[in-house]
Amino acid sequence: MKNILITGGAGFIGSHVVRLFVNKYPDYNIVNVDKLTYAGNLENLRDIENKPNYTFIKADICDYDEMRRIIEEHQISGIIHLAAESHVDRSILDPFTFARTNVMGTLALLQAAKVYWEALPEGYDGKLFYHISTDEVYGALELTDPDGIESPFTTTASSYDHHLAFGSEFFLESTKYNPHSPYSASKASSDHFVRAYHDTYGMPTIVTNCSNNYGPYQFPEKLIPLFINNIRNRKPLPVYGKGENVRDWLFVEDHARAIDLIFHHGKVADTYNIGGFNEWKNIDLIRVIIRTVDRLLGNPEGYSDGLITFVTDRKGHDMRYAIDSRKLQRELGWEPSLQFEEGIEKTVRWYLDNPEWTDRITSGDYLTYYENMYGSR
Ligand code: NAD
Ligand code: TYD
Repeated sequence: MKNILITGGAGFIGSHVVRLFVNKYPDYNIVNVDKLTYAGNLENLRDIENKPNYTFIKADICDYDEMRRIIEEHQISGIIHLAAESHVDRSILDPFTFARTNVMGTLALLQAAKVYWEALPEGYDGKLFYHISTDEVYGALELTDPDGIESPFTTTASSYDHHLAFGSEFFLESTKYNPHSPYSASKASSDHFVRAYHDTYGMPTIVTNCSNNYGPYQFPEKLIPLFINNIRNRKPLPVYGKGENVRDWLFVEDHARAIDLIFHHGKVADTYNIGGFNEWKNIDLIRVIIRTVDRLLGNPEGYSDGLITFVTDRKGHDMRYAIDSRKLQRELGWEPSLQFEEGIEKTVRWYLDNPEWTDRITSGDYLTYYENMYGSR
């Protein structure tokens, strides 16, 4: 497969996937389609934007005609679909935008690929529609003993045993969908449409459901980059509820590596869960972030603890996510390359070494990058 369409490539995970594919596969043409919503930032791709095998197109995945035109013009044979509205808090305030992009946008893209591929002499041969989804579609798990979990930062993280400390249930590929937030409901719906295109039309599709990602270039509305930035600027750290909710964290480059592996070797019509067996209670994770930022900035230990501010809980806040990714490990040999200690250190360092990246977002300056690169919008 030579001509690959990656949607949402100007976002957090998408930019890592685009970078990996552009650098690793010089003989592929990588076409990045992104609407450049508030979450899209072409500065994430500055290092590869002039590579000969990379093309950026500003377009909305909901625009069926435009998707048809792009897929046909670039003779796309593989699609890695990441474009989405991705922030749960925004989905609570504005569910329509989530339904539009995540559901109708995915449908427009599916239909555009279907019409183009079905008309080719070889049909669906050698084609793939790979849809990137989230573990949040599975709903929330119980937390067996929130107070019994070892809080300090330990090397037992990133192991199956560590997982068991939080509860005996995990999300498996066979777990029934049970989304709670407008975000997860819209992603669940898009996953169903992708599978329906396989089951109804025979389109070769794959769906993967990944746990919470962290790493460089994450929009500073999400927990980790927001808190690093707030510590840097001596601003309060808003902890929802009691900070007891548990998330399962994976370094973004490990997700990108999994996507590469699954795109090339995954089984058509299959589903893979992606996760690092790395659950953290929010408050414990926050303490790790504070400690790491303070150490790297040369502040005394405990210097930023007072910034922690408990605020009203998120509506419908899912208690615990926990991915069982042993199928992917067993069948395709993938495993995370980084222990959490290394990943979080690398991440905090990146945000502290690149303060202008976040500052240009908070000031709004990043919005003009497109115009400087490509002319008026
Ligand atoms: P993000 O919000 O950082 O990036 C989304 C990108 O999609 C942005 O560049 C945005 O401009 C683009 N986009 C939004 N609406 C569009 C539209 N209508 N047309 C074209 N482009 C549009 O999101 P992310 O965190 O990088 O997530 C990427 C994908 O991975 C999403 O599908 C998300 O559901 C999924 N996912 C994310 C996580 C996570 O922890 N961030 C975990 C699992 C799965
Ligand atoms: P987030 O990064 O928004 O990811 P998601 O909601 O998709 O898991 O949030 C991670 C966890 O951190 C989640 O339990 C909500 C919590 N949280 C806070 O406590 N304060 C905040 O300001 C944010 C953004 C999140």
